[in-house]
Amino acid sequence: MQSLKDADLNGKTVLMRVDFNVPMDKDGHIIDDTKIRAALPSIEYVINQGAKLVVMSHLGRPKGKPEDKYSMKRIAGHLAGLVNTKVKMANDSVGPEVQQEVKALKPGEILVLENVRFHAEEEKNDKDYAHQLAALAEVFVNDAFGSAHRAHASTAGVAEYLPAYAGFLLESEVNMLRKVLDYPESPRMAILGGAKVADKLGLIENLSEKMDIILIGGGMANTFLKAQGKNIGISKYEPDLVEQAGKLLEQAPGRQVKILLPVDAVVATEISPEAVGQIVSIDKVPSDCMIVDIGPETIALFAEAIAEARTIVWNGPLGVYEYDQFAQGTREVARAMADSGAVSVIGGGDSAAAVHNMGLESKITHISTGGGATLEFLEGQVLPGVAVVEAAH
Ligand code: 3PG
Repeated sequence: MQSLKDADLNGKTVLMRVDFNVPMDKDGHIIDDTKIRAALPSIEYVINQGAKLVVMSHLGRPKGKPEDKYSMKRIAGHLAGLVNTKVKMANDSVGPEVQQEVKALKPGEILVLENVRFHAEEEKNDKDYAHQLAALAEVFVNDAFGSAHRAHASTAGVAEYLPAYAGFLLESEVNMLRKVLDYPESPRMAILGGAKVADKLGLIENLSEKMDIILIGGGMANTFLKAQGKNIGISKYEPDLVEQAGKLLEQAPGRQVKILLPVDAVVATEISPEAVGQIVSIDKVPSDCMIVDIGPETIALFAEAIAEARTIVWNGPLGVYEYDQFAQGTREVARAMADSGAVSVIGGGDSAAAVHNMGLESKITHISTGGGATLEFLEGQVLPGVAVVEAAH
């Protein structure tokens, strides 16, 4: 891997891809800044080397056009409070105005580009857009492990035009995960939650071949419960994926993987700070309610399985973790995992946040800043954002 330490940066302009896609509440306040802090060693190193630093990231999924709630402005403001230098904010990621702002930067200063996903070309890995980004700098540093599974212009395309180096975060994530892969002790378990269902069904398919047991909770469990014919009230699910979820459940015994779903749930009529949860059996979800957390019986069932596992990979919260009253399942799973003594890897903002908030970090083998990236890495897939810093240049 081409490490940042190998780069000659003095007086250069450095374009660094970070993953500042941090969880935010509906008022735009950062709930957890772990991903921002995790990039500080690379950021500080670059500015201390006397380079000008241009930082770029995506935030959320804005569908190729500007959307105020996904602006990087708040993130830039937050970064300014964490570093000892001037942090400027650009109005776009490319274009003449941005070029001028880069030119005006002094060594040791930082310019944060506007959300790269405000351009549809980003996710298409468009050559012209990648070239325009690359033209802003002389060196590319990829420190966005959390986005390394995306072959986008800012994570991969840009490396076609600039010498590319791995930031310290990306390098240490890859090294840690490689270490974990060397301990394939059974039983091997995956715990999956979160709302990004569409992203994960394919992964469950793959994980079914590699894991002995898969626990499913959070929003993604709804599609599976639906496939089992359960009434899930007004809970969100993916109608198009019910059939595929049903097949995965059917095929599980033949693949020698056990899939555990919630047997009870906390339900509520709305998701809001005032919402009050009610515990019900999974067969008795009221029609006007949605599932917001796993229930106590499920917590006990999951905790028992976790205690027996020797290798555990966890991605995604088991309930609506942003609201304290619906965070119990996620917290209990974090505790069980910390107590298990298994080789444990956590990927994903909310699961990692639960562990941080409970002070359990030291009992987890590795807490990754990447959700999807961790899972795809553990699947043995080549991550495009890692590949570009591994290629010789
Ligand atoms: C994440 O939060 O997992 C990363 O930032 C990637 O985000 P994405 O799934 O929207 O590409």
